[in-house]
Amino acid sequence: TPDHRIALIPGDGIGTEVIPAARRVLDAVAVRHRLSLTYDTFDWSCARYLRDGAMMPEDGLETLRGYDAILLGAVGSPEVPDHVSLWGLLIPIRRGFQQYVNLRPVRVFEGVPSPVRGAEPGAVDFVVVRENVEGEYGEIGGRLNRGLPGELAVQEAVFTRTGVSRIVDYAFTLAGRRGGTLTSATKSNGIIHTMPFWDEIVAEHAAGHPQVAWHQEHIDALAAKFVLDPARFDVVVASNLFGDILSDLAAAVAGSIGIAPAANLNPERVFPSMFEPVHGSAPDIAGRGIANPLGAIWSAAMMLDHLGHAAAATRITDAIAAALATTPVRTPDLGGSATTDAFTDTVISLL
Ligand code: NAD
Ligand code: IPM
Ligand code: MN
Repeated sequence: TPDHRIALIPGDGIGTEVIPAARRVLDAVAVRHRLSLTYDTFDWSCARYLRDGAMMPEDGLETLRGYDAILLGAVGSPEVPDHVSLWGLLIPIRRGFQQYVNLRPVRVFEGVPSPVRGAEPGAVDFVVVRENVEGEYGEIGGRLNRGLPGELAVQEAVFTRTGVSRIVDYAFTLAGRRGGTLTSATKSNGIIHTMPFWDEIVAEHAAGHPQVAWHQEHIDALAAKFVLDPARFDVVVASNLFGDILSDLAAAVAGSIGIAPAANLNPERVFPSMFEPVHGSAPDIAGRGIANPLGAIWSAAMMLDHLGHAAAATRITDAIAAALATTPVRTPDLGGSATTDAFTDTVISLL
């Protein structure tokens, strides 16, 4: 079997708790599927920034480039401004490795009641396809007149035809493969340049995927529909910021932000892809061993799938589902009192 080299970046806060949990699950599944996974762990984090003045070494991306995949926990600490930590590590990896697809599946599991009325297990099973390298997260702009009455800040959203086309194409193809529908989230009634441009590109691509039913929805109304009728969605494609917000909302519909996984994909496989839970470093619960490791474990499963081991990936997601459906073991975010390790042990015992 091929040998896969994985770069582990636990990062900050609960990232350092959920990544070891995900690794334990990977190791257990590797034995059963005769996979050879080797890991190198990097301490790139806010702690490193406070010690050495940088989130990662100058040649950090060069180092990561040699790996088959990256598994990341979370980045961010109350002691370091977020724009420093995130633009010093997370965002450079996404952009440097052209991970322009951020795939964020959502599922209501049996045994995890959704806070949303009528959101039944099995019925809610969709995926947010988030544009991951451009859009509202633009670097063009600036701040003027700091501290003066005329103080202002400007940030340009940049949407390129190449960037929008490739994410929309990915989303249509995914919807076709799932035999499902595509929903495109925009705000073309209020944002006059970028969003109508996005809508036009969606309509152009629709012609090439006649078997996929599609709709466009205004993001405000769509947010309400996520709560009122989450079962109607299948593939939802959105810009960088809208996809970010929708994916936390969707995770909450499924019961907790702690369960949502993400795959930052470079579909061309020129560069390594990165897998990470949707949640952040959760400083409010860090250090107590109670973080929900499900998002990280599911992210690790997405990594195995990306590396060509679909059966091993399904084995993990089946064990997660079984743990929730057949045992009372849950972390506090899901109303239980189990630790990160206890939930992880339960998943491993059901592999
Ligand atoms: P957060 O996701 O860290 O936390 C939001 C809330 O959800 C908190 O109450 C937290 O306790 C809870 N939560 C999150 N993950 C959980 C888990 N696995 N189990 C149980 N509860 C969980 O978001 P935030 O508070 O907005 O951000 C905190 C820090 O994380 C900031 O520095 C932010 O920039 C950073 N962040 C990093 C990433 C990333 O690295 N990908 C993502 C989001 C936020
Ligand atoms: C996420 C996070 C990041 C994002 C932040 C921390 C920059 O919220 O991965 O969802 O917005 O991409
Ligand atoms: Mn987010």
